[in-house]
Amino acid sequence: MRLHAVDPANPDPDIIADAAARLRIGELVAFPTETVYGLGANALDAEAVARIFAAKGRPSYNPVIVHVPDVDAARCVVTRWPDAADKLAAAFWPGPLTLVLPKAPRIPDLVSAGLPLIGVRVPAHPVALALLRAARVPVAAPSANKSNQLSPTSAPHVLRGLADVDGVVLDGGDCAVGIESTVIDLSTDVPTLLRPGGVSVEALERVLGMNIQLAAAPASAEAPRRSPGALDRHYAPRARVQMCAAGDGIALATSIDALRSAGARVGVVAWSDFDLPFNGDVSVRQLPGDAVEYAARLFATLHELDARGVSAIVVESVPDLPIWDAVRDRLRRAAS
Ligand code: TXA
Ligand code: MG
Repeated sequence: MRLHAVDPANPDPDIIADAAARLRIGELVAFPTETVYGLGANALDAEAVARIFAAKGRPSYNPVIVHVPDVDAARCVVTRWPDAADKLAAAFWPGPLTLVLPKAPRIPDLVSAGLPLIGVRVPAHPVALALLRAARVPVAAPSANKSNQLSPTSAPHVLRGLADVDGVVLDGGDCAVGIESTVIDLSTDVPTLLRPGGVSVEALERVLGMNIQLAAAPASAEAPRRSPGALDRHYAPRARVQMCAAGDGIALATSIDALRSAGARVGVVAWSDFDLPFNGDVSVRQLPGDAVEYAARLFATLHELDARGVSAIVVESVPDLPIWDAVRDRLRRAAS
């Protein structure tokens, strides 16, 4: 992929117009959003969308989120727009929330992986919005990484995973949220959470004035899934990830020792302020104890430890509070 720097404060109209034209003729364009970088293609063009699946090595049963610049454009990709969608869009768009609704026939089945439903969102990044307005087509975009690997929160992360792919990357800097959008299914009587993410369940419930339900776990690994991308192993760095108890410095040190004795190069991700008795050979990364700030840095930290060549990463578990749900979900998948 070829990289073009774009100033988020003032996106160069020529670069945006060029990228938009590429999307319209079926090429791939990776672009920044406030959550993670997306690998975009014209959502009306099944061949272009097929290029996304090929580039990522993504299984064809995993549907792709469609990105649009505003509510009017969102309404054009669905056949129903319930009150709940109005409320949530008004409260959280542009922003890290994906609404799943009945799919309009003009969107090819490949985008929704054959499901009758489509995920749609308006991202909050100025480069994404400029691109979507200029493209004048809905843009299908999964995270810009190989399937099951870590999501990219910077343009260099995209290049690390997808360097060989034909297309351009708009480099708009680091992603502020750093974790993917919350995915909520509004096609059910009671809205269903399919993936925790940048908007908390509490915030959704406050705006909806009702409780939402969590997607039931599939009966077996082969059973159809409500959110087909919610595979157990996902969002994973190359290094093996091992969780250890929150706030327990002794348990952490014991895990590190065991891994080192087994010959591993060890990285550590912690949010507690441990005084660890290790020097140079263990890469300790201290993240903030605030859930939002932690999320913003998690993927970049795992990318950095991977790039350093560690073979095992010990991660301190995060607090068992709702505000940490999205982070806990990604860590559980990375470690499984
Ligand atoms: O923040 C984000 O959502 C990022 C940025 C680029 O927008 N995108 C992203 O896409 O994370 P992806 O493809 O990596 O994850 C999309 C998730 C998957 O778990 C997928 O199964 C689910 O959303 N999803 C998408 N469309 C769906 C649909 N029609 N029904 C159920 N789940 C859907
Ligand atoms: Mg992804």
